Amino acid sequence: MFDLDSYLVSKNKRINDALNNILGKNINSGRIIKAMRFSLMAGGKRIRPVLCIAAAEAVGGKTEDVLNAACALEMIHTYSLIHDDLPALDDDDMRRGKPTCHVAFDEATAILAGDALLTLSFQILSSISFKTEKCASKRLDVLHAIAFAAGCNGLIEGQMRDLASEGTLLSIDDLEAMHSLKTGALIEASIYSGAALGGGEKNQIRQLGIYAKNIGLAFQVTDDILNIEGDPKVMGKSVGTDVIRGKNTYPAIVGIKESKAIAKKSINNALQALDGFDNRSDPLRAIACYIIERKR
Ligand code: IPE
Ligand code: IPE
Ligand code: MG
Ligand code: MG
Repeated sequence: MFDLDSYLVSKNKRINDALNNILGKNINSGRIIKAMRFSLMAGGKRIRPVLCIAAAEAVGGKTEDVLNAACALEMIHTYSLIHDDLPALDDDDMRRGKPTCHVAFDEATAILAGDALLTLSFQILSSISFKTEKCASKRLDVLHAIAFAAGCNGLIEGQMRDLASEGTLLSIDDLEAMHSLKTGALIEASIYSGAALGGGEKNQIRQLGIYAKNIGLAFQVTDDILNIEGDPKVMGKSVGTDVIRGKNTYPAIVGIKESKAIAKKSINNALQALDGFDNRSDPLRAIACYIIERKR
């Protein structure tokens, strides 16, 4: 029987070792690297890199095939959190059980640490030695997909809509679109990268795309729910803040009960998309269930 806890422990160790290795290779070890390390190694769940690895495994690939991409995805995610917490955005003091980057350092350092993590992610993605031309074009395709998801067609547009709609009431369709951009896009890119670099066939990548879309939505809906029902000590970040800031969330628009039903339905859809896969996709199945059951 597949054990998600031990899977997460072993994959998180691989990811953390690789991230430490990347940070250690930089030519300086001054304040900016300290701030980057502070946020990157603060104890995030590593869901995006784990999804990247699990998607690769589901199509027969190995962790080492995708480890660089997995690290790049976590760096982009961490940069997005550092900037999301800034006073100009969500103005949060706690993240991953520690003070946010701008509180631990200062605002300018936090902005630069975010910039540096984003840039470093693309340095890592583009610095892989290409064994064959086919392999090179696959890498380039993944790099493009991740850039697309992280930028003004994905995460950044989602963040813009999140901020611009504070204090207003979005329709459910607009809310879903916002969540899909701000959180779904990077989760989808994580799974796509793993599946493509792991050697997935077209139809496998298509099915994993359906899985990704559904868990991406369930992930942000659950984040919205935890902002109301969660324990800040367990989550390592403040709760109740979405209501204070007048954020558009699933609980605000459809209520807690319906939000949970929507998250559950999305997870069922995600599991259904894996029907044609063998037991190498058990980690993806278990992660889907974890996404709505998690307490942090
Ligand atoms: C939090 O992401 C922000 C969202 C996009 C919902 P995570 O819940 O993955 O945060 P960490 O990485 O574990 O800190
Ligand atoms: C964070 O969304 C999404 C990104 C950083 C792209 P939220 O603002 O809803 O997440 P938390 O609750 O601060 O982690
Ligand atoms: Mg935000
Ligand atoms: Mg926030």
